[in-house]
Amino acid sequence: MTDADGLAWTRRRFLAGGVAAAAAALAGRSSRARSPADERSAARITKAIPSSGERLPVIGLGTNAYGVSDPTEYAARKEVLARMPDLGGSVVDTARAYGDSELVIGRALAELGNRDRLFLATKTPIGGEVTDASDLIEASFRRLAVETIDLVQVHNLHGLEAFMPLLLELKAAKRIRYVGMSTSRDEQYERLLDSLARYPVDFVQVDYSIGNRSAAERVLPFAQDSGLAVLVNMPFGGRRSGNLFPQVRGRALPDWAAEADVGSWAQFLLKYVVSHPAVTCAIPGTTKVAHLEDNQAAGHGRLPDADLRRRMESLWDAL
Ligand SMILES: NC(=O)c1ccc[n+]([C@@H]2O[C@H](COP(=O)([O-])OP(=O)(O)OC[C@H]3O[C@@H](n4cnc5c(N)ncnc54)[C@H](OP(=O)(O)O)[C@@H]3O)[C@@H](O)[C@H]2O)c1
Repeated sequence: MTDADGLAWTRRRFLAGGVAAAAAALAGRSSRARSPADERSAARITKAIPSSGERLPVIGLGTNAYGVSDPTEYAARKEVLARMPDLGGSVVDTARAYGDSELVIGRALAELGNRDRLFLATKTPIGGEVTDASDLIEASFRRLAVETIDLVQVHNLHGLEAFMPLLLELKAAKRIRYVGMSTSRDEQYERLLDSLARYPVDFVQVDYSIGNRSAAERVLPFAQDSGLAVLVNMPFGGRRSGNLFPQVRGRALPDWAAEADVGSWAQFLLKYVVSHPAVTCAIPGTTKVAHLEDNQAAGHGRLPDADLRRRMESLWDAL
């Protein structure tokens, strides 16, 4: 964004109504203005994957609630996947462990024709002994109905020794673009750090939120020092474990949140996470377009600096 008036205006719109409202209003501006798409992408925050320099939008989508078969639920998930790239997001994180989530995403993207606008991340299976790693990985290509998967992560380090050599071969063959490991549990951090040091991976996925900052003690600094991209799962505290929203229900945002273009508690939580210097992208899970719009708005405008991050933590700790 080069037009200072346009930037201030865009910020006000994001605060008032999120990305969709800003885009709609931008469309009505005079002909001297840049197009709505230009305005949106100029305001979008991206970070580089250290191993390649490729830039990713900082807010993605988690899909552990996408394993649905009911037609109404399928249509709702498909609508989220349709809107995602229009709002500026690209990273979609799934896993074999999320029921039929891979299948639902594969079908929806094929119907929408927008696979090339998304960065697809999946994970290796977590159940049972890994007797044929190749069969298990090939199933993800079929379920997602794609030739190339952007990122495959070893889920919860399960079967790490069996999967990792194969994932690195598939990366060399350019069928997988990046390789990673994921966890969402403190008790796996020690093994995670040891495993990250042993394999040449591009990504690590870890749980991190303003309510659970233990990844910031060792995992995030390690990732930053080692040149690893970081995906953050459960930025709202997790779908299953009970998320952080009840703690702020009915509370107004502090005035100073506007200094980071924060217009909702979801944006507060997400901007806290993605402003950590080690974090590349947060993957909040949502099944609703209204929540997607709210969350994607956090991928635009200003990020909190170190001082603002401290104020966010103090506020949270005093709740
Ligand atoms: N070990 C691992 O690798 C691992 C473990 C856990 C999770 N993950 C990944 O991380 C993703 C995120 O984790 P998660 O989905 O469990 O937890 P989360 O992102 O922390 O929270 C999701 C919850 O927040 C709600 N929500 C989303 N946006 C909202 C908004 N703007 N306002 C109010 N509520 C909102 C969602 O409900 P609605 O659906 O109603 O929006 C859902 O209940 C998962 O989907 C998965 O892809 C990976």
